[in-house]
Amino acid sequence: MTTTVPSRPAANPILKTSGPDLLRDLDLTDDELGYLLELAADVKRFPSDYAQALRGKSIALLFEKPSLRTRLTFELAAKQLGGNSVFCEGPVGGREPLKDVARNVDRWVNGIVARVFSHDTVEELARWSSAPVINALSDMYHPCQALADVQTIRERFGAQEKVKVAFIGDGNNVAHSLMITAVRLGMNFTLGCPQGFLPNPEVVVQAEGLASLSGAALAITHDPRAAAEGAHAIYTDVWVSMGQERETARRKKAFQPFQVNEELFALARPDAIFLHCLPARRGEEATDAVMESDRSAIFDQAENRLHAQKALLLMMLS
Ligand code: CP
Ligand code: NVA
Repeated sequence: MTTTVPSRPAANPILKTSGPDLLRDLDLTDDELGYLLELAADVKRFPSDYAQALRGKSIALLFEKPSLRTRLTFELAAKQLGGNSVFCEGPVGGREPLKDVARNVDRWVNGIVARVFSHDTVEELARWSSAPVINALSDMYHPCQALADVQTIRERFGAQEKVKVAFIGDGNNVAHSLMITAVRLGMNFTLGCPQGFLPNPEVVVQAEGLASLSGAALAITHDPRAAAEGAHAIYTDVWVSMGQERETARRKKAFQPFQVNEELFALARPDAIFLHCLPARRGEEATDAVMESDRSAIFDQAENRLHAQKALLLMMLS
């Protein structure tokens, strides 16, 4: 009897990212995205095989906004790959120009992971830094989140199944990254959002182009029920992102019909999963019942932040 041993990505990745930075999802090529997901699955399965892969390498985390998942998973990823991390909280460029920050930090570390208010900040850091810059969330994108999201969806449904991902809520940073990444992988993607909370039109145009290449269907609707219908994954995020606190009252009113509750979730497939990048405001964008249901995959998704980011660091820094 012959057994087929599936090929595994090498512990020292054979595919390095072609661009220096990950500022937006499209900074990874299709091949790099595909390879990264394979590597993330391998790292998850065989973590000890990668324990020394980033030996002697360091990353700096520059965070303007609070974080639980992103900070801890990047710090742990660096450590578990044999490297180091340092953390710095506060306005990036608050005390000195960004071009000076970038050219100090890049002398000390091999990569910069930045969580910022304005996307221009990560662009400016990357312009001046000789070390790769990873966007750990800006007002436009959350590419590291999208990697863990598609990893989680593939784990549940496989890479071949034509899944429908329904994002119900704000056309925000998380929606942008998931839309781009999902349609590139051939996943059908529907965004259900209120009037006035559409995603950035340039991102939509890019996603339409990618969908036509991959054969994915891309739709945007203001009807949450139509968005949820027949979905394999129902995804939502907070109605008020960090930095939008002054809009809270207006947003809470507009998004109320878009709450993911048991009634809306019931419109998805019987085996559908519930996803949320977290942190959540339970009772607002999603009910406790949905978040605690046995079809909620939110903690698998959070776990995958670690594995996906390990794969990313391996491809960018090793
Ligand atoms: N999903 C996410 O980025 O979580 P944190 O804000 O806790 O990092
Ligand atoms: N859209 C949210 C995501 C947090 C992980 C925010 O930007 O605050």
